[in-house]
Amino acid sequence: MKNVIGILAGSLRRESYSKKLANALLSMAPDELEFRIISLADIPIYNQDFDDHPGVPKAVTAFRKEMEQVDGIIFITPEYNRSVPAVLKNALDVGSRPYGKSVWNAKPAAVFSNSPSNLSAFGANHHLRQSLVFLNVPTMQQPEVYLPKVNELFDESGNLKEGSTKDFLQKAVNAYVEWFNKKIFKRWKN
Ligand SMILES: Cc1cc2nc3c(=O)[nH]c(=O)nc-3n(C[C@H](O)[C@H](O)[C@H](O)COP(=O)(O)O)c2cc1C
Repeated sequence: MKNVIGILAGSLRRESYSKKLANALLSMAPDELEFRIISLADIPIYNQDFDDHPGVPKAVTAFRKEMEQVDGIIFITPEYNRSVPAVLKNALDVGSRPYGKSVWNAKPAAVFSNSPSNLSAFGANHHLRQSLVFLNVPTMQQPEVYLPKVNELFDESGNLKEGSTKDFLQKAVNAYVEWFNKKIFKRWKN
């Protein structure tokens, strides 16, 4: 069975550029891996009562189960107010509990950030990395992926246009696959 790389886009917007990037990555997977988009659309806002009392919402259990099937992760994040959009931070929080059963532990990741602006969501990219350190998600350092002017990258059907950004993304995916295949990462915590 192929290892699965979950692609998580930090936006729920219908015409989201992050979601379009997630779709574009599907065709960049090598034969030996399955790239799979994981939707964050149904996850409720985390409430610690989910774990302290009976009655975990079905969508929470479903997301945690889906993430358990995933061996590595590519995060595609836009930026909200110089940080990670709440939907993505919420997914991290939901997946990190119950305590000792985090779905993130030791899964190799990459962070691809994007924005219509020139700053490329640098703030979100690095805020996300801060949480990933604590969650023991070994995150690829190079190449860093900051995509500016993301609104100019797609054609009318929402497909990624041919060109230097597409070429760079394929190189970044290839580097991530190498990172994933190192398989040196340990589960420090349970
Ligand atoms: C609440 C809010 C805050 C935003 N803050 C930033 C920001 O800090 N930096 C930035 O580059 N873009 C910011 N934007 C613009 C987003 O980059 C833009 O809406 C982008 O298309 C969102 O990503 P998506 O296309 O994947 O939905 C913000 C948008 C919203 C709605």
